[in-house]
Amino acid sequence: MADAYSTLLIERHADGYAVVTLNRPEALNALNTTLTGELGDFLESVADDDSVRCIVLTGSAKAFAAGADIKEMADQAYADMYRGNFFARAHDRVASFRKPIIAAVSGYALGGGCELAMLCDFIIASETAKFGQPEINLGVAPGIGGSQRLTRAVGKAKAMDMCLTGRMMDAAEAERAGLVSRVVASDALLDEARAAAAKIAGQSILAVMANKELVNAAFETTLAQGVVFERRLFHSLFAFDDQKEGMAAFVEKRKPAFTGR
Ligand code: CAA
Repeated sequence: MADAYSTLLIERHADGYAVVTLNRPEALNALNTTLTGELGDFLESVADDDSVRCIVLTGSAKAFAAGADIKEMADQAYADMYRGNFFARAHDRVASFRKPIIAAVSGYALGGGCELAMLCDFIIASETAKFGQPEINLGVAPGIGGSQRLTRAVGKAKAMDMCLTGRMMDAAEAERAGLVSRVVASDALLDEARAAAAKIAGQSILAVMANKELVNAAFETTLAQGVVFERRLFHSLFAFDDQKEGMAAFVEKRKPAFTGR
């Protein structure tokens, strides 16, 4: 199947994952209506496609994405933003995607770019990565979940500092603060993200989706509710062939052959 998009490059890999590269180099991958629409369409097209069990989302060496497209937004009226429900569709498509999305971030991840990276399940950053919510410099505020997800990721002190001063956080600070899961050398970024995606794609897709659902539930529930939800979902995994296969393979000292059943 051909993936023809004007702002995305898609590579599908035989080991069950796809690399999606944001491709608007002339605008440092700024998120415009076309790009966010295409990203949403791609995710929808692979939602039920078993050959794509994990996604790596990346940009260029200079920019993952430098934010929402300021030139597209600048003249919008409130009625346009409200009726168009600015980026809600793209936000919801990424947020509701049930398979893992790894953000591989090099260079700028600012404003909507930082928000898009945080919407992914985890972030692998290159040493050159820079994260920020500089909307305040434009007389506005984050609009794709940044004030909420950044605060949950790094806590109030750093989130407030970044949103109010508009300063950027480098990769080392982002790792210390818990915003990114790993920092790697720039030339190793894609290999590291691909290896993580291949590892995930080789697991039981049912267990992968359950693990993603459980970690995300931690942001929406009390600890007691979350623990009960986890226990029930853990119990329910024993209904699947993949649990029998995974445990039998361990006992028989062989590699499991998961079927997603
Ligand atoms: N929107 C539209 N175009 C952008 C852009 C953006 N967010 N960011 C960069 N570009 C464009 C520039 O206008 C420039 O285009 P031209 O060559 O046609 O002038 C091109 O990309 C290269 O950018 P620079 O020349 O500025 O590159 P630089 O290396 O000097 O600076 C930068 C890089 C510090 C990232 C700078 O481009 C910058 O500050 N960009 C804006 C960052 C920003 O404010 N992001 C938040 C946007 S608002 C938002 O995202 C709201 C929300 O939450 C939903």
